Amino acid sequence: MRNDPFFRTYSPRQEAMARVAQSQQEAMTRPASTAPVSGILEQYMVREEPYYRTVADEVELYEAAYSVRMPMMLKGPTGCGKTRFVEYMAWKLQKPLITVACNEDMTASDLVGRFLLDSSGTRWQDGPLAVAARHGAICYLDEVVEARQDTTVVIHPLTDARRMLPLEKKGEIIEAHPDFQIVISYNPGYQSLMKDLKQSTKQRFGALDFNYPEHEVEAEIVAHESGVSIDVAKNLVHIGERARNLKGHGLDEGLSTRMLIYAGSLIAKGVAPLAACRVALVRPITDDPDMRDALDSAVTTYF
Ligand SMILES: Nc1ncnc2c1ncn2[C@@H]1O[C@H](COP(=O)(O)OP(=O)(O)OP(=O)(O)O)[C@@H](O)[C@H]1O
Ligand SMILES: [Mg+2]
Repeated sequence: MRNDPFFRTYSPRQEAMARVAQSQQEAMTRPASTAPVSGILEQYMVREEPYYRTVADEVELYEAAYSVRMPMMLKGPTGCGKTRFVEYMAWKLQKPLITVACNEDMTASDLVGRFLLDSSGTRWQDGPLAVAARHGAICYLDEVVEARQDTTVVIHPLTDARRMLPLEKKGEIIEAHPDFQIVISYNPGYQSLMKDLKQSTKQRFGALDFNYPEHEVEAEIVAHESGVSIDVAKNLVHIGERARNLKGHGLDEGLSTRMLIYAGSLIAKGVAPLAACRVALVRPITDDPDMRDALDSAVTTYF
């Protein structure tokens, strides 16, 4: 009786929810295209396997998220492997990757596109987000909190069940390509109250936590990336861990894996370890003379 159309009252909310459920169902069962990428996206293919050392179950989780095209947020401190991970996943999934480094001067037009003037008049040029949505790429918005909130909201219609991008100036709505996925990176420590993602943005994403890997794994990464021996890499990681313990006690941020790799690269080039650590680890992260001396002495215990 209840389902008898005659008795059914029209509820826009219910209708909308039914539509959402249907489109989510469709998205979940929709296979990614296997056709080779051609044309404009070819330049965005990751051709060679990037070195990525799996830390936990992040690869499987990301694959599952991609299979339902869930927008993803990679959270973690600077230099811990977020960018490398996206590159690796794009390679593994064989999808083009368009990366946008966000900054506070960025406008919605920088993402979506704009009319350009040339000798033949005006022509529309898709921005990186529009290219990714139209042709089916993974769009990685790096450090998205740096962008102003009025810029960030342009991703909203793409990150819910609508999966569309309105190009208001052009009067067009792009329905996202089935392969399109959006990924953002986010450093939870850096936000001020003024600069944080709105809840309505955050709640459109699944999130993966990244952090500096545990000792052995980080040493393996440092050795691989810099070319130093595993023993030297382990010493560098010890120094990194010492410095990370000082975070909040005079240091704003711990030493990143990236910095340890820099130090290792100098050592691999023949620079004396003490000098390499001073240049690549200690001097960049502190201006405070006491902290600098404390870190320098931590270095001398390992080299
Ligand atoms: N799990 C990992 N496997 C392989 N390399 C790694 C891994 N984690 C970190 N690295 C190395 O550390 C470097 C820094 O990582 P990456 O650039 O991905 O950091 P990030 O988290 O994107 O930092 P930022 O927030 O500053 O952009 C990489 O170039 C890579 O050499
Ligand atoms: Mg990065």
